[in-house]
Amino acid sequence: MSTTSDTETSASPSTTSILSQRVGSFLAFAPLAVWVTWHLYSNLSAFQGPQAWEAAVTAPRAPLVEVLTSTIVLLPLVIHTLWGFRRLRMVKFNNGSYSNFDNMKFLLQRLSAVGVALFIVAHVSMARIRPLVLHGHHETFADISYEMNHNPPTLIVYLLGILGVAYHLANGVATGGLTWGYAATDKARDRVKNLSYLYFVLLLAMGWGSVFALANAGDNPRRMEQRVSAPSIPAGVQH
Ligand code: HEM
Repeated sequence: MSTTSDTETSASPSTTSILSQRVGSFLAFAPLAVWVTWHLYSNLSAFQGPQAWEAAVTAPRAPLVEVLTSTIVLLPLVIHTLWGFRRLRMVKFNNGSYSNFDNMKFLLQRLSAVGVALFIVAHVSMARIRPLVLHGHHETFADISYEMNHNPPTLIVYLLGILGVAYHLANGVATGGLTWGYAATDKARDRVKNLSYLYFVLLLAMGWGSVFALANAGDNPRRMEQRVSAPSIPAGVQH
C-alpha cells in the first residue's frame, strides 16, 4: 500500500519523464536558441573586417567571464545533447509507409541533430580548443578566413553544419509548440510553422553570409602573411 511518505519522497516515472522532457526542451530555447542566433548575428561583422569581427566574436574577456559564459552555453548544450540522443533511441521511423512532408521534417530533425552534434565537436575543437592550446588565444580572423578560402573541406563542413543548425533550430521552434502548447490549434500551428520557415531563412542567411565574408577575406594576400599570428586585438583589451 502506498503511504503519504512514499508519494512525497519518490516522483512517479511519468512525472520524471515529463520533467526531463521539459528540461531538455527548455534548455534548447534558453540559452541555446538565443545564443546560436546571437552568435550567427555577431559573425556578420566579418563584413566589416578583421578588427570588427574579432571585437564581436573572439575579443578576450576576463577569465571568470570566459568560464561563466562557456558554462552557461556548454552545460545546457551537453544536457540537451544527452536528452536528444536518448530521444533518438526511443523513436521508430515510419517514413517508408507514410511519406508526407511532416514525417520527412520529423526525420530531418533527428538527422540534423546528429549532424549538429558532429559539427559542434569539430567547430569547438578547431576554432576554440586547438588555437587555445597551440597559441593561447581564440582563432584569429586571418586564420579562419584563410582556412575558409584555401581549405575546401573546412568550407563544406561550415556550410553543411550551419545548414543543419538552422534547420534543427528553426524546425525545433515549430515542434516546441507541441511541447509548450503555443501551437495547440490548427491556426496557431500554421502560424508557428510559417514563422519557423522565416527563422530558418534568417539563420541560414546570417550563417552563410558570414562564411561568404570570411572566405572572401581569406583571398587577401596581406592577411595570409599574418596567418597564425597574434589576434588583431591585443589580449586583455576589453570592448
Ligand atoms: C546548436 C545546438 C542546438 C540547438 C539550438 C537545439 C535546439 C532544439 C530545439 C529548439 C528543439 C525543439 C524542442 C522541442 O520540440 O521541445 C530541439 C529538439 C531536438 N534536439 Fe536539439 N538543439 C541543438 C543541438 C542538438 C544536438 C547536438 C542534438 C543531438 C542529439 C539534438 C537533438 C535533438 C532532438 C533529438 C530533438 C527532437 C526532440 C523531440 O521532438 O523528440 N539537438 N533542439
